[in-house]
Amino acid sequence: MNIAIFASGAGSNANKIIEHFSNHQLVHVKLVACNKPGAGVIDIAASYGIPVLMIEKEKFFRGNAYVEELKEAGIDFVVLAGFLWKVPSALINAYANKIVNIHPALLPKYGGKGMYGNFVHAAVIAAKEKESGITIHVVDELYDHGSVIFQATCPVLPQDTPETLAQRIHALEHQHYPAVIEQFLLQQL
Ligand code: GAR
Repeated sequence: MNIAIFASGAGSNANKIIEHFSNHQLVHVKLVACNKPGAGVIDIAASYGIPVLMIEKEKFFRGNAYVEELKEAGIDFVVLAGFLWKVPSALINAYANKIVNIHPALLPKYGGKGMYGNFVHAAVIAAKEKESGITIHVVDELYDHGSVIFQATCPVLPQDTPETLAQRIHALEHQHYPAVIEQFLLQQL
């Protein structure tokens, strides 16, 4: 099975996923797709010799959504890891139930447009939540909406800033995302 990772930022989750599958018998990270020139994930992909597909807005939202390029590369499954654009229907239909996302909060709370990265953690802290966490879910046509595959929680501490909470959430993501992807993929074989 060949995976494409879609990412927009630093790529720490992409890094963990690539490492996890680097010697895997059945699952290979074949491609990294990125919409942001200069993003850290591009260097991470290069350091593992994984090709990077730079995606452009016009073609993604009003063209073929890169479906042909992904199919040509033999991609079976798409993993979003800090990818900040909404996934267009053309891509969702071509990979029905084969796209997963990680969200840095306990959905359905703190999801939707504009809820990404530290905006999520700032909202969680402002609401004085005692607990936050991560959600891994199948991607559908709505932001942060498809069926939930996995959740894990962590405490929100009284002295937390968005940055300290982000660190705790990232650790939880790194601990779980690669293994949850593996389990979800192997179930489909
Ligand atoms: C991760 O915390 C991920 O959950 C979040 O972006 C971060 C990317 O970090 N995704 C969203 O907020 C999506 N709504 P990374 O680039 O270091 O993996």
